[in-house]
Amino acid sequence: MSEVDKVIELAKRRGIFWPSYEIYGGVAGLYDLGPVGVRIRNKILNIWRKFFIENNKEFVVEIETPIITPAKVLEASGHVQNFTDPIVECTKCHKIFRADHLIEEQIKINAERFSVSELNEIIKDKNIKCPVCGGDLGEVRLFNLLFSTNIGPYSGNTGFLRPETAQGMFTAFKRVYGTTRERLPLGIAQVGKVARNEISPRQGLIRMREFTIMEIEFFFDPEDLEVPLDKFEDDSINVLLGSEKIKGQENPVQYKLKELISEKIILNPWMGFWMATANRFVNYLGIQNTYFEEKLPQERAHYSKQTFDQIVVVKGEKVEISGHAYRGDYDLSRHSKVSGEDLTIFKKYDSPRIVKKKITIINKDKLNKEGSNFTKEFMKNVMSHTVEEIEEMINSGYSIDGKKISEFITVSEREEKETGKKFFPHVVEPSFGVERCLFLSIANAYTEKKDRVILSLPKSIAPYEVAVFPLLDRENLIKKAREIYDILKDKFDVIYDDSGSIGKRYARVDEIGVPYAITIDPQTLEDNSVTIRERDSWSQIRVKEDKLTTSLEKLFSGEQFNKLGEENE
Ligand code: ATP
Ligand code: GLY
Repeated sequence: MSEVDKVIELAKRRGIFWPSYEIYGGVAGLYDLGPVGVRIRNKILNIWRKFFIENNKEFVVEIETPIITPAKVLEASGHVQNFTDPIVECTKCHKIFRADHLIEEQIKINAERFSVSELNEIIKDKNIKCPVCGGDLGEVRLFNLLFSTNIGPYSGNTGFLRPETAQGMFTAFKRVYGTTRERLPLGIAQVGKVARNEISPRQGLIRMREFTIMEIEFFFDPEDLEVPLDKFEDDSINVLLGSEKIKGQENPVQYKLKELISEKIILNPWMGFWMATANRFVNYLGIQNTYFEEKLPQERAHYSKQTFDQIVVVKGEKVEISGHAYRGDYDLSRHSKVSGEDLTIFKKYDSPRIVKKKITIINKDKLNKEGSNFTKEFMKNVMSHTVEEIEEMINSGYSIDGKKISEFITVSEREEKETGKKFFPHVVEPSFGVERCLFLSIANAYTEKKDRVILSLPKSIAPYEVAVFPLLDRENLIKKAREIYDILKDKFDVIYDDSGSIGKRYARVDEIGVPYAITIDPQTLEDNSVTIRERDSWSQIRVKEDKLTTSLEKLFSGEQFNKLGEENE
């Protein structure tokens, strides 16, 4: 069994996750989170909120917007046109494959975002066949990953399930900005379900058709790049640059964050701020092996000026855990244009500035002499352009009905006093999938010891911190164990269990990653001592009942188990 399959098997057995609608055979890419999975997921989510929102709450707020999105919004954002993946169908067995992944698997090259014609060419040149039946493959075409629906009872009112939470933040930007003291930078965070009609969902929670995104759209003034990087002063991050990838380099290099920013390798310092935060967050989940891979221009999404994918290496597999895109003013300017709402913000200068402005001057007398038809044509063809465009038209000798427009219009410069200016904020976006974080944390923690499984999760994301067991199914032990459970439950995240043999109970808590188990045995009734068992080492120490809480507190603040044992001897 592969490592991934082992994790999937454990997850089903222990209530972490399993395929949804199992009794009807399941649906690829849809998963339920079980009782244990939800607990771990919630802890990961809270840690993300702490790292990304709470630690930055002077400039990050969280909102919640709908999953159902009117077509207009995703047309404006470019998703209706561009949110596609290439597919190819076998002409014999009619199985459909994701064309770039098929090529990657068969000839081991990175075919991400190759054009349809490039993919077709490779399939022909390399004689790639259907991996299922060996048949010939048809022509590659693009498949849109948006799930569509109809909003309300009248047909034609198309809506989509959102593929990212981002558009909710862009469309609400003006409202959020207005209610949060109209200041930049402003991070708008959101956690919520998204849906993507993935072509070949696989590998458990890594590629799902419905999943939860935790992301921030971070709005800032591109001319004011004072970024509070002090706390990352000494942080290093591993990066595989696009320029290195082109040379065939596959290994990342360690850089100081400062260097990446001062050398403008990361185009925007805010992007560096969030990448460093993401690095710390992923390390906190217990995953040490992580790096950022810069996407080449052809590999980037349609809205991005620069993208880094954060890759984690877990059990030898490389998986993207987060994406970091510099979206510029793409989204706000698109929504402004399509909705007709002005989504710029006004920046007041410290003191008014004198600026030179180009203006157009129309020679009305001359224009009127040409008659009303000509005037109409002139207004339509010329005045719909910007001053700069009109200047270019004049310079290039543009004419209407054989008459040069320069006879009727000139461009001149005038000095004006400006108190401020309107502009679209720029945006960087750090975006994580919650279930991928859950899956990768579990896969990373998965260890085997003497044919048994231990989930060595960091204490902060374990589904429970402490388990309490009576050694035997005896009334006096159960009563005592319940008392201890009641004392501990106000301070710790505790689970009580008295079903089955003690060996089975230890195995169960090891497999779901509970770091410590407290056992109440006959000796407890004699001398008020209990055992604490450590998940990863299976070692046990005895402590007096009245020292139990402080002992656990010490363990949770990092004290070594052996050392605590010596103290209690
Ligand atoms: P991929 O290249 O793996 O398809 P993507 O580049 O489309 O991912 P983004 O759009 O950047 O991914 O999404 C942000 C994050 O959401 C990813 O880093 C990942 O953690 C998560 N994610 C994306 N697609 C899926 C999916 N199908 N199932 C689970 N999580 C996903
Ligand atoms: N923000 C993720 C995407 O649109 O792909």
